[in-house]
Amino acid sequence: MELNEIRELFPYLKQGKIYFNHASIGPLPLNVKEIIERYSVERSEGTINNYKQFLLVETRARKKIAQLLNTPPQNITWSTNVGTAMSMLAQGLDWQTGDEIILNNIEFPSNVYPFLNLQSKGVKVKFVKAKNGILNLEDIEKEITERTKLISVSLVQFLSGFQIDLKSLSEICRKHGIILSVDAIQAAGNVKIDLTETNVDFLAGGTQKWLLGLQGLAYVYVGNELLEKLNPTILGWQSVANPWELLNYDLTLPDDARKFLSGTLNALGIFAFNKSLEIFLNFGLENVYSQVKNNTNFLLEKLQEIGLSPLTAGLPQCNQSAIVTFKVENATQIKEELGKKNIVVEIREGMIRVSPHFYNTRQEIERFTEELKLLLTGSGF
Ligand SMILES: Cc1ncc(COP(=O)(O)O)c(C=O)c1O
Repeated sequence: MELNEIRELFPYLKQGKIYFNHASIGPLPLNVKEIIERYSVERSEGTINNYKQFLLVETRARKKIAQLLNTPPQNITWSTNVGTAMSMLAQGLDWQTGDEIILNNIEFPSNVYPFLNLQSKGVKVKFVKAKNGILNLEDIEKEITERTKLISVSLVQFLSGFQIDLKSLSEICRKHGIILSVDAIQAAGNVKIDLTETNVDFLAGGTQKWLLGLQGLAYVYVGNELLEKLNPTILGWQSVANPWELLNYDLTLPDDARKFLSGTLNALGIFAFNKSLEIFLNFGLENVYSQVKNNTNFLLEKLQEIGLSPLTAGLPQCNQSAIVTFKVENATQIKEELGKKNIVVEIREGMIRVSPHFYNTRQEIERFTEELKLLLTGSGF
C-alpha cells in the first residue's frame, strides 16, 4: 500500500483538517468504519449470532498485534484498558511487606494507581524524577535495591514523547531479577517494539490512539517466565483450558496468556482492531517507523526555526517518538486559534503537545508551523 492510498482511508483529510492529536485519540480509518457498520448490520438483521466468525477474527487480530510486537500470539491476551491490565499484573503477583516498585513522576496515572494500590500490602513505591520530561537510566538504576521486584514504565512518555532505551532497561532488570512492565499505548504504531529482541515481562496498550481502533480494548503481552508466576485474579468462563465444557467446572488453566481472558470479549473492538492493524502491516512496519522519524525530524527542525524548544529536541533519534511537546505562553489560546484554522493539537500540563502520525505529510507540518509562527508573533490572531 502506498502513502496516498493510506491517506484515502482518512476522509477528514479531504476537509483540509490537520489532525496532530493521535496521542489523545486516533481517527477511525474507513476500513474500520466499514467493519463497524457491517458488524451492526450482522448483529441486528443478519446472522445475529456471529460468535464463530468472531473467534476467527480474534485469532487474526491476536496474530497481527503479535506480529507488530514481534512475539508469539500465545503470549497475547486482551483487557479493557491499561489501568485494568496493570492492575491484573499488580494484583496477580505475590507481594511481601517491604517489596519495592520503581515508577517515575511523569507516568500516566493508569501506570501508577494500580501499583500505589499495593501500598496497603506493605509494598513501597518509589518515584524516579524526570528532568524536563526526560528519564535517565542511571537515575532508575540508583533506586534499585535487593527488595526491588518490579519496574513499570511507558516506552514513550505521554507528555514529553521521550522514548526510553528499553533494551538497556531490560538488561538492568534481568541483571537484578526485576520484573519489567511497559505501558506501550503511546509507542505501539509509531516506534518499533521487538519483544523477541528485548526482554520485557509485561506490556499493555489500548487500541484507540496510534493503532486507530476503538476505546475499551487493550492488548496485553505476558512473557513466558511471568506466565508461570502471574496468577489470574479475575476468573470467568474463558479463563480455563476447556471453556466449552460448560458444566464441567474444571478450573485447569491454559498454559498460555488465555488464562487472563475472564469472560466475553469486546467483539466490536476486536473486529475494528483487526482492520486497523491491516493498515500498518500492509504499509510495512519499517515504513511506518521511518515515516514517523522523518516527520518528527522535520517537525523538530521547523519548531526550532521559529524559536521554540521541544522537550525531545537534541536527543538521539532512538529517544524520540511521534510526540513533540513544547512550552509557549498562552498555550490554551494558541491551541484554540489553531483549532479555528482547522489544525488540531492538544494541551498537556500547560504545554502544547503535537502528535502527527506516519501518514501525515511535511506539507501539513509546514502549514502547522507557519500558522503557529503567525500566532506567536501576534499577527495570526
Ligand atoms: C501513557 C498512557 N497510558 C495510558 C493511557 C490510557 O489509560 P487507560 O487505558 O487505562 O484508560 C493514556 C492516555 O489515555 C496514556 O497516555
